[in-house]
Amino acid sequence: MRVLGVSGSPTKDSNTDALIKAVLSTTGAETEFIKLSEIKVGPCIACMKCVYTNECVINDDFKWLSRKVMEADAIVVGSPTYYGSASAFMKAFIERLYSKRHIKLLMRGKLAATVAVGVAAEKMVAEWMGNSLRAGGMEIVGSMTAKGTPCCFVCGPGETCDYTVWNAYSKELTGMDLGVGEAYKEYLEILPDNVPYAHGSAKFLKSYRSVKDEPPVMAEAERIGKLIRERE
Ligand SMILES: Cc1cc2nc3c(=O)[nH]c(=O)nc-3n(C[C@H](O)[C@H](O)[C@H](O)COP(=O)(O)O)c2cc1C
Repeated sequence: MRVLGVSGSPTKDSNTDALIKAVLSTTGAETEFIKLSEIKVGPCIACMKCVYTNECVINDDFKWLSRKVMEADAIVVGSPTYYGSASAFMKAFIERLYSKRHIKLLMRGKLAATVAVGVAAEKMVAEWMGNSLRAGGMEIVGSMTAKGTPCCFVCGPGETCDYTVWNAYSKELTGMDLGVGEAYKEYLEILPDNVPYAHGSAKFLKSYRSVKDEPPVMAEAERIGKLIRERE
């Protein structure tokens, strides 16, 4: 059995990468891990030239990557959550798989698993990746999400910036309750001398969150790997 892992996270040794690798290593299969940010896979340009050939005509790394997808019995895709969606790397990769769908539905019967990491909207990302791969004929054997690090916590000025994520989406600034307070309560303690969410000042409870420090999260990735293994 061959299993291909594809990460849409551009961050080195990211949480997304760690979870995909944990799935791969428990499949017991021949595996390969590819980081989309290290190769060139652009978005679909809707030329429709793939309709009868099932081959994308764009001349980039999707040419060899699509062969690896076709040779794999299962693929494990993972993405961080960017603007409530999959990363552009993952979006482009999944768009390009469109070439394998027409007429022959070439990915039919392959197994797939999805991993999404984020702070607030990661479930939507996992669901979107799963639905997209299912539409390509794949069977989703497992799907998981994990909490990652909010980008403002690692950028430097995050603690004082007025437009830091929890402020930019706050009820005070947007007039809508987007659930920011709930999403960030594990990460932040709002200081008593500040109006919550109206100023960018808070105490960081977690500056970097690694899934490797969270055994139940790693165990879930391993469980998904075993589900793939059982299908051999
Ligand atoms: C451009 C950008 C946009 C982001 N947007 C969101 C978002 O909409 N929702 C969210 O939950 N996290 C968002 N994040 C935070 C990432 O999802 C978070 O840092 C995640 O842990 C990254 O996963 P990785 O370390 O595996 O790449 C964003 C990060 C970046 C860089």
